[in-house]
Amino acid sequence: MTTRRYLMCRPTYFAVTYRINPWMDPTAPYDNALAISQWETLRRTFLDLGHTVELIEPLPGLPDMVFAANGGTVVDGKALAVQFRDPERADEAPAYKAWFAGNGFEVYDSKHTNEGEGDILLAGDVLLAGTGFRTVHAAHLQTQELFGRPVITLQLIDPAYYHLDTALCVLDEHTVAYLPDAFSPGSRAVLRRLFPDAVIATPADAAVLGLNAVSDGETVVLPVQATALDAALKERGYQTIGVDMSELRKAGGGPKCCTLEVRS
Ligand code: ARG
Repeated sequence: MTTRRYLMCRPTYFAVTYRINPWMDPTAPYDNALAISQWETLRRTFLDLGHTVELIEPLPGLPDMVFAANGGTVVDGKALAVQFRDPERADEAPAYKAWFAGNGFEVYDSKHTNEGEGDILLAGDVLLAGTGFRTVHAAHLQTQELFGRPVITLQLIDPAYYHLDTALCVLDEHTVAYLPDAFSPGSRAVLRRLFPDAVIATPADAAVLGLNAVSDGETVVLPVQATALDAALKERGYQTIGVDMSELRKAGGGPKCCTLEVRS
């Protein structure tokens, strides 16, 4: 296990006021105070595991800013800024960019729609990159060029699993967990080839955003409702910690969406 450095954003202004993914229902009630306490528990969990948690100031009028994973892709001290598909989230991009610049990262502008670590996940030496709903394929090319690491394009096909991090979790340098049905047939074959020992999640695990989990290589922090995935991970020798993110799930997010790993 290596100690990780995470960036998070308190859900001070969290709300569900628009619908940009199938989980969001602006007519349904949500509880901002509960969202904040669930998020606090997640932050505390990372601190108790020995990780560093940096905080970015939340901005009013940006209810999805809590989903820090979408703030950028940060590897080797370089931060690739984001460009959101939806205008509702556009103003988050410069805020995250300013944080990276202010914290010593080399910042690069995104030339294409790119929703950061929501769609681009470091797995050992390669970057796994989702496309189909948000991040466009051209952004994968820019990502490969910038980081000089192979980028593996994976096509998402189920609108419920609109970001890669809702359908796949990197467990350690060699292994991932994923929901095969969320991917095109070709991408499924790529995943089988790259990760023959992957943990295959059940549709029930994915439906509680169980794959939206954060692993430090030893301990996996995952939604407490993902019970089958929890058991499968323990069987593989991972420690697991279940957290309840039910309130943030109303916006289509879980533990990983709230967490951006910043790698110096
Ligand atoms: N409501 C947000 C959106 O649809 C949720 C983002 C979740 N983040 C993630 N990394 N999957 O953009």
